[in-house]
Amino acid sequence: MASIQQILNVNPMKISKSTSLLASMAVIVALLCVSSCASSHSGQNTYTSQASCATEPTYEADIKPIMSTQCVKCHNANKRTDGVSLDTFEGTKECFAKGEGLCTVYHDCSPMPKRAPKLSTTQLETLSCWVKSGCK
Ligand code: HEC
Repeated sequence: MASIQQILNVNPMKISKSTSLLASMAVIVALLCVSSCASSHSGQNTYTSQASCATEPTYEADIKPIMSTQCVKCHNANKRTDGVSLDTFEGTKECFAKGEGLCTVYHDCSPMPKRAPKLSTTQLETLSCWVKSGCK
């Protein structure tokens, strides 16, 4: 016959077991996040590997229109917010080739995009594919 004592003894153990399981899961999630954010800055693997690229976007046809409507008002030759200028091919390539651009538009880094409009999925894919194919 199980006494109340026994039930009380069993339950706290179960609770602490599941708590430590949760804690270790939290650590794993945190580690995954740190490593994916770090790799996105160095090699852009996170975003470019997820993008299925049927074509290679080009700056003039595909990227410039996105920058003009979404980014240039805050990032141009006269107003280089945070040192970023997105009104030329060179400036845009510099920003995206080193990984910072993608990380920012995916809202994974930088406090900037919380105020700036979020890009559509299609625009994000286009930018990822542009970086994947070498920012041409
Ligand atoms: C409403 C103005 C505004 C718009 C629009 C805007 N930005 Fe920014 N951006 C900022 C500000 C302000 C910062 C500096 C944020 C900070 O570091 O506090 C910034 C910083 C950045 C940075 C540097 C991030 C870093 O880690 O240092 C990048 C890259 C960037 N923006 C890219 C873009 C791109 C790409 C777009 C278009 C999709 C865009 N921004 C649109 C205001 C804007």
